[in-house]
Amino acid sequence: MPAIACTAPGKIILFGEHAVVYNHPAIAAPFDGVKAKVSALANPIAPAGQVKIDAPDIHLQTTLEQLSPDDPIALVIHNTWEALGIHSMPAVTLRITSTIPPAAGLGSSAAVAVALARAVATFVGHPLPDETISQIAFRAEERQHGTPSGIDNTVIAYAKPVYYTRGQLIEFLSIGQPLRLIVADSGVSSSTAVMVNGLRERWQTDRGHYEAMFGQIGAIVREARPLIEKGDSTRLGPLLTENHAILHEMGISCPELDKLVQAALSAGALGAKLSGGGGGGNMIALVRADDEGNVTGALQQAGAVWTQSALIAKHGNR
Ligand code: PMV
Repeated sequence: MPAIACTAPGKIILFGEHAVVYNHPAIAAPFDGVKAKVSALANPIAPAGQVKIDAPDIHLQTTLEQLSPDDPIALVIHNTWEALGIHSMPAVTLRITSTIPPAAGLGSSAAVAVALARAVATFVGHPLPDETISQIAFRAEERQHGTPSGIDNTVIAYAKPVYYTRGQLIEFLSIGQPLRLIVADSGVSSSTAVMVNGLRERWQTDRGHYEAMFGQIGAIVREARPLIEKGDSTRLGPLLTENHAILHEMGISCPELDKLVQAALSAGALGAKLSGGGGGGNMIALVRADDEGNVTGALQQAGAVWTQSALIAKHGNR
């Protein structure tokens, strides 16, 4: 059996993170600049049915049998088998690598889950539809984050920009004109689960205040949608910055992210905000082509440990 390889992109949340957990809409796009990759190589000399896992980025070399059933990798493999109606697969080595920085709001865990589920299904000769792959990744995210909204697994499995509301049909977005973003990592590692749970505790003590802010974010997302569809970056920029200000008020930002947002705006970005779980991780700045160099330099000066440009175009690529 030949080796196969499946990849999945990272993701950028343009608008609406956190509020999306409370049933407000959000907009996200695949980020092809980083990706997770899983290759599956038949291992005919291994004991029948042995699944070797080789994940050098996290220094993991093991077999499926040795993993706890709760381990996200084991969970994805078992859930993929369940979707395929099988209980084992021919002996194989699954090699998992990723260029998506973990704990940084770029969807690293969902991308690994999507690429892994695809590799397992493709290896046994039964590729699964995006919807099933997305569900498998969602179940793994649930185990890790408690109450994921489902936006990460959706945008990554379909690899297209989405307008996403929990529990509703997925709406794919057409992009009028490519959006030019700079993605910058604050270098502060942060757990999405901790951020989501902390916000839930604050919401429980002051529901009115937090629900008003979720509502404001929802209104920004609805206003942003037609601007994205038209490709109106000039009017879109201030909405990003407004969304960041509300996330800041909700306790989702951190000084490092605020500094990057300010630096991007001072250097001429049309708008800027944190992206993803917050508390650290990445931010995005929307720029005109002419300002890209200036803004990137300003972000690096302001402490970004990594920057990359991202063009959000008509369709994401797988
Ligand atoms: O930090 P990430 O990449 O997992 O993004 C989380 C997005 C949240 O809205 C904060 C959580 C969710 O489940 O939607």
